[in-house]
Amino acid sequence: MKKTALITGGNSGIGFATARKLQKKGYQVYIVGRNSEKVQQAASELGVESLVADMGQLADIESLAAPFRNSGLDVLVNNAGIAQPVPIEAYDGDVFDRLFYTNVRGPLFLIKNLLSAVEKRSGSITTVSSIITQRGASGFSLYAATKGAVNAFTKNLAVELAPRGVRVNAVCPGAIETPIFSKMGIPSEQLGAAKEQLLSTIPLRRFGSSEEVANVIVAQLEATYVTGSVWDIDGGVNT
Ligand SMILES: NC(=O)c1ccc[n+]([C@@H]2O[C@H](COP(=O)([O-])OP(=O)(O)OC[C@H]3O[C@@H](n4cnc5c(N)ncnc54)[C@H](OP(=O)(O)O)[C@@H]3O)[C@@H](O)[C@H]2O)c1
Repeated sequence: MKKTALITGGNSGIGFATARKLQKKGYQVYIVGRNSEKVQQAASELGVESLVADMGQLADIESLAAPFRNSGLDVLVNNAGIAQPVPIEAYDGDVFDRLFYTNVRGPLFLIKNLLSAVEKRSGSITTVSSIITQRGASGFSLYAATKGAVNAFTKNLAVELAPRGVRVNAVCPGAIETPIFSKMGIPSEQLGAAKEQLLSTIPLRRFGSSEEVANVIVAQLEATYVTGSVWDIDGGVNT
Protein backbone atom coordinates (compact mmCIF):
# COMPACT_ATOMS: atom_id res chain seq x y z
CA MET A 1 0.00 0.00 0.00
CA LYS A 2 1.24 3.52 -0.86
CA LYS A 3 2.14 5.69 2.13
CA THR A 4 0.08 8.88 2.41
CA ALA A 5 1.23 12.38 3.41
CA LEU A 6 -0.72 15.57 4.15
CA ILE A 7 1.19 18.88 3.96
CA THR A 8 -0.42 22.16 4.98
CA GLY A 9 0.73 25.27 3.13
CA GLY A 10 1.89 22.92 0.37
CA ASN A 11 1.42 25.40 -2.47
CA SER A 12 4.50 27.48 -1.63
CA GLY A 13 8.05 27.54 -0.24
CA ILE A 14 9.01 24.83 2.26
CA GLY A 15 5.68 23.00 1.98
CA PHE A 16 5.92 22.81 -1.82
CA ALA A 17 9.50 21.47 -1.67
CA THR A 18 8.49 18.88 0.95
CA ALA A 19 5.55 17.76 -1.18
CA ARG A 20 7.85 17.33 -4.19
CA LYS A 21 10.33 15.26 -2.19
CA LEU A 22 7.67 12.98 -0.68
CA GLN A 23 5.98 12.55 -4.07
CA LYS A 24 9.32 11.50 -5.61
CA LYS A 25 9.75 8.99 -2.79
CA GLY A 26 6.46 7.34 -3.81
CA TYR A 27 4.06 8.81 -1.24
CA GLN A 28 0.46 9.63 -2.14
CA VAL A 29 0.65 13.37 -1.35
CA TYR A 30 -2.15 15.78 -0.45
CA ILE A 31 -1.26 19.46 -0.28
CA VAL A 32 -3.48 21.91 1.58
CA GLY A 33 -3.80 25.62 0.77
CA ARG A 34 -6.16 28.42 1.72
CA ASN A 35 -6.52 29.69 -1.85
CA SER A 36 -8.12 27.12 -4.16
CA GLU A 37 -6.62 28.48 -7.37
CA LYS A 38 -3.07 28.58 -5.99
CA VAL A 39 -3.26 25.14 -4.40
CA GLN A 40 -4.74 23.52 -7.51
CA GLN A 41 -2.03 25.05 -9.70
CA ALA A 42 0.71 23.83 -7.35
CA ALA A 43 -0.84 20.36 -7.16
CA SER A 44 -1.00 19.99 -10.93
CA GLU A 45 2.64 21.12 -11.21
CA LEU A 46 3.64 18.49 -8.65
CA GLY A 47 1.26 15.75 -9.78
CA VAL A 48 -0.35 15.47 -6.32
CA GLU A 49 -3.83 15.97 -4.81
CA SER A 50 -5.03 19.37 -3.58
CA LEU A 51 -7.32 20.25 -0.66
CA VAL A 52 -8.58 23.67 0.40
CA ALA A 53 -8.69 24.71 4.08
CA ASP A 54 -7.92 27.81 6.09
CA MET A 55 -5.82 26.70 9.05
CA GLY A 56 -7.22 29.62 11.04
CA GLN A 57 -10.75 28.10 10.90
CA LEU A 58 -11.67 25.16 13.13
CA ALA A 59 -14.55 24.08 10.86
CA ASP A 60 -12.14 23.84 7.88
CA ILE A 61 -9.73 21.74 9.95
CA GLU A 62 -12.49 19.29 10.93
CA SER A 63 -13.65 18.90 7.31
CA LEU A 64 -10.06 18.47 6.11
CA ALA A 65 -9.38 15.62 8.53
CA ALA A 66 -12.66 13.72 8.14
CA PRO A 67 -11.87 11.75 4.92
CA PHE A 68 -8.62 10.37 6.41
CA ARG A 69 -10.29 8.76 9.46
CA ASN A 70 -11.07 5.51 7.61
CA SER A 71 -8.12 5.40 5.25
CA GLY A 72 -5.41 6.39 7.77
CA LEU A 73 -2.46 8.74 7.27
CA ASP A 74 1.29 8.00 7.51
CA VAL A 75 2.65 11.53 7.58
CA LEU A 76 1.38 14.96 8.63
CA VAL A 77 3.52 18.05 7.95
CA ASN A 78 2.07 21.03 9.81
CA ASN A 79 3.85 23.64 7.71
CA ALA A 80 1.33 26.44 7.02
CA GLY A 81 2.28 29.58 8.87
CA ILE A 82 2.36 33.36 8.75
CA ALA A 83 5.04 35.76 9.94
CA GLN A 84 4.58 39.44 10.64
CA PRO A 85 6.63 41.99 12.56
CA VAL A 86 4.50 43.50 15.33
CA PRO A 87 6.26 45.92 17.71
CA ILE A 88 4.75 45.63 21.18
CA GLU A 89 2.90 48.96 20.94
CA ALA A 90 1.14 47.64 17.83
CA TYR A 91 -0.26 44.52 19.53
CA ASP A 92 -4.01 44.17 19.28
CA GLY A 93 -6.47 41.34 19.67
CA ASP A 94 -6.86 40.81 15.92
CA VAL A 95 -3.17 40.40 15.10
CA PHE A 96 -2.69 38.21 18.19
CA ASP A 97 -5.55 35.93 17.13
CA ARG A 98 -4.45 35.81 13.49
CA LEU A 99 -0.91 34.69 14.38
CA PHE A 100 -1.91 32.28 17.15
CA TYR A 101 -4.89 30.77 15.29
CA THR A 102 -2.81 30.05 12.18
CA ASN A 103 0.51 29.06 13.74
CA VAL A 104 -0.62 27.31 16.96
CA ARG A 105 -4.33 26.52 17.11
CA GLY A 106 -4.38 25.26 13.50
CA PRO A 107 -1.55 22.71 13.86
CA LEU A 108 -2.77 21.54 17.31
CA PHE A 109 -6.36 20.99 16.19
CA LEU A 110 -5.23 19.31 12.97
CA ILE A 111 -3.22 16.87 15.07
CA LYS A 112 -6.27 16.32 17.30
CA ASN A 113 -8.55 15.71 14.33
CA LEU A 114 -6.11 13.45 12.46
CA LEU A 115 -4.88 11.49 15.46
CA SER A 116 -6.93 8.35 14.87
CA ALA A 117 -5.85 8.35 11.19
CA VAL A 118 -2.14 8.72 12.06
CA GLU A 119 -2.41 6.15 14.86
CA LYS A 120 -3.84 3.63 12.38
CA ARG A 121 -0.56 3.79 10.41
CA SER A 122 1.83 4.32 13.39
CA GLY A 123 2.60 7.56 11.63
CA SER A 124 4.75 10.61 12.14
CA ILE A 125 4.00 14.32 12.59
CA THR A 126 6.40 17.20 11.97
CA THR A 127 5.50 20.83 12.65
CA VAL A 128 7.52 23.70 11.18
CA SER A 129 8.68 26.01 13.96
CA SER A 130 11.49 28.61 13.73
CA ILE A 131 14.98 29.36 15.02
CA ILE A 132 13.52 32.67 16.20
CA THR A 133 12.40 30.78 19.33
CA GLN A 134 16.04 30.73 20.36
CA ARG A 135 17.43 34.05 19.01
CA GLY A 136 15.90 37.47 19.61
CA ALA A 137 14.69 39.63 16.70
CA SER A 138 13.20 43.07 17.24
CA GLY A 139 9.49 43.22 16.36
CA PHE A 140 9.01 39.46 16.23
CA SER A 141 8.00 38.66 19.82
CA LEU A 142 4.48 37.62 18.86
CA TYR A 143 5.58 35.41 15.96
CA ALA A 144 8.33 33.93 18.16
CA ALA A 145 5.75 33.21 20.88
CA THR A 146 3.66 31.20 18.40
CA LYS A 147 6.67 29.11 17.41
CA GLY A 148 7.74 28.70 21.05
CA ALA A 149 4.29 27.20 21.63
CA VAL A 150 4.95 24.78 18.75
CA ASN A 151 8.19 23.58 20.37
CA ALA A 152 6.42 23.16 23.72
CA PHE A 153 3.43 21.21 22.40
CA THR A 154 5.76 19.04 20.30
CA LYS A 155 7.71 17.82 23.33
CA ASN A 156 4.57 17.23 25.38
CA LEU A 157 2.52 15.50 22.67
CA ALA A 158 5.52 13.29 21.85
CA VAL A 159 5.33 11.84 25.36
CA GLU A 160 1.52 11.64 25.34
CA LEU A 161 1.32 9.91 21.96
CA ALA A 162 4.37 7.62 22.14
CA PRO A 163 2.36 4.79 23.76
CA ARG A 164 -0.01 4.99 20.76
CA GLY A 165 2.88 4.60 18.27
CA VAL A 166 2.72 8.17 16.94
CA ARG A 167 5.92 10.26 16.71
CA VAL A 168 5.78 14.06 17.07
CA ASN A 169 8.69 16.32 16.12
CA ALA A 170 9.45 19.83 14.90
CA VAL A 171 12.04 21.62 12.78
CA CYS A 172 13.38 25.13 13.31
CA PRO A 173 14.43 26.75 10.02
CA GLY A 174 16.60 29.85 10.10
CA ALA A 175 16.50 32.32 7.19
CA ILE A 176 15.12 30.44 4.19
CA GLU A 177 14.55 32.13 0.82
CA THR A 178 10.78 31.74 0.32
CA PRO A 179 7.81 34.01 -0.51
CA ILE A 180 7.13 34.49 3.23
CA PHE A 181 9.32 37.63 3.32
CA SER A 182 7.22 39.40 0.68
CA LYS A 183 4.03 38.66 2.67
CA MET A 184 5.20 40.42 5.87
CA GLY A 185 4.02 43.87 4.85
CA ILE A 186 7.52 45.39 4.96
CA PRO A 187 8.36 48.01 2.25
CA SER A 188 10.85 46.56 -0.26
CA GLU A 189 13.86 48.84 0.53
CA GLN A 190 13.41 48.16 4.23
CA LEU A 191 13.08 44.45 3.54
CA GLY A 192 16.32 44.45 1.50
CA ALA A 193 18.22 46.10 4.34
CA ALA A 194 16.72 43.73 6.92
CA LYS A 195 17.73 40.69 4.84
CA GLU A 196 21.30 42.05 4.46
CA GLN A 197 21.50 42.47 8.24
CA LEU A 198 20.13 38.95 8.77
CA LEU A 199 22.68 37.53 6.35
CA SER A 200 25.55 38.96 8.40
CA THR A 201 24.39 36.87 11.41
CA ILE A 202 24.52 33.53 9.55
CA PRO A 203 27.81 31.63 9.88
CA LEU A 204 27.32 29.96 6.45
CA ARG A 205 26.77 33.50 4.98
CA ARG A 206 23.77 32.56 2.87
CA PHE A 207 20.03 31.95 3.20
CA GLY A 208 18.89 28.33 3.06
CA SER A 209 16.64 26.91 0.35
CA SER A 210 13.24 25.26 0.72
CA GLU A 211 14.77 22.04 -0.61
CA GLU A 212 17.38 22.05 2.17
CA VAL A 213 14.59 22.29 4.76
CA ALA A 214 12.50 19.63 2.98
CA ASN A 215 15.46 17.23 3.13
CA VAL A 216 15.53 17.53 6.93
CA ILE A 217 11.74 17.31 7.33
CA VAL A 218 11.64 14.07 5.35
CA ALA A 219 14.63 12.65 7.25
CA GLN A 220 12.86 13.47 10.55
CA LEU A 221 9.58 11.93 9.41
CA GLU A 222 11.39 8.72 8.49
CA ALA A 223 13.72 8.57 11.52
CA THR A 224 11.81 5.88 13.42
CA TYR A 225 13.63 6.32 16.77
CA VAL A 226 13.18 10.11 16.87
CA THR A 227 10.31 11.70 18.77
CA GLY A 228 9.99 14.90 20.82
CA SER A 229 12.92 16.36 18.87
CA VAL A 230 13.29 19.90 17.55
CA TRP A 231 15.93 20.05 14.83
CA ASP A 232 17.62 23.31 13.75
CA ILE A 233 18.21 24.02 10.03
CA ASP A 234 19.83 27.43 10.27
CA GLY A 235 23.25 27.65 8.63
CA GLY A 236 24.88 27.67 12.06
CA VAL A 237 22.96 30.55 13.64
CA ASN A 238 22.14 28.68 16.84
CA THR A 239 25.70 27.72 17.74
N1 LIG B 1 11.19 31.14 5.26
C1 LIG B 1 11.76 31.29 6.43
O1 LIG B 1 12.79 31.99 6.59
C2 LIG B 1 11.18 30.58 7.63
C3 LIG B 1 11.95 30.54 8.80
C4 LIG B 1 11.45 29.89 9.92
C5 LIG B 1 10.20 29.28 9.87
N2 LIG B 1 9.47 29.33 8.73
C6 LIG B 1 8.15 28.66 8.75
O2 LIG B 1 8.09 27.79 7.65
C7 LIG B 1 6.71 27.55 7.30
C8 LIG B 1 6.55 27.68 5.80
O3 LIG B 1 6.83 29.01 5.42
P1 LIG B 1 7.55 29.42 4.05
O4 LIG B 1 8.78 30.14 4.40
O5 LIG B 1 7.61 28.25 3.13
O6 LIG B 1 6.51 30.54 3.55
P2 LIG B 1 5.44 30.61 2.36
O7 LIG B 1 6.12 30.34 1.08
O8 LIG B 1 4.70 31.86 2.58
O9 LIG B 1 4.49 29.36 2.69
C9 LIG B 1 3.55 29.40 3.74
C10 LIG B 1 2.37 28.56 3.31
O10 LIG B 1 1.39 28.58 4.37
C11 LIG B 1 0.14 28.93 3.76
N3 LIG B 1 -0.76 29.54 4.73
C12 LIG B 1 -0.59 30.69 5.43
N4 LIG B 1 -1.66 30.91 6.20
C13 LIG B 1 -2.53 29.89 5.98
C14 LIG B 1 -3.82 29.57 6.46
N5 LIG B 1 -4.47 30.35 7.33
N6 LIG B 1 -4.41 28.43 6.02
C15 LIG B 1 -3.78 27.63 5.13
N7 LIG B 1 -2.57 27.90 4.61
C16 LIG B 1 -1.96 29.02 5.04
C17 LIG B 1 0.52 29.90 2.64
O11 LIG B 1 -0.55 30.10 1.75
P3 LIG B 1 -0.52 31.35 0.69
O12 LIG B 1 0.43 30.93 -0.41
O13 LIG B 1 -1.93 31.45 0.27
O14 LIG B 1 0.01 32.56 1.44
C18 LIG B 1 1.69 29.10 2.05
O15 LIG B 1 1.21 28.04 1.29
C19 LIG B 1 5.91 28.58 8.13
O16 LIG B 1 5.32 27.92 9.23
C20 LIG B 1 6.96 29.58 8.59
O17 LIG B 1 6.60 30.21 9.79
C21 LIG B 1 9.93 29.96 7.61
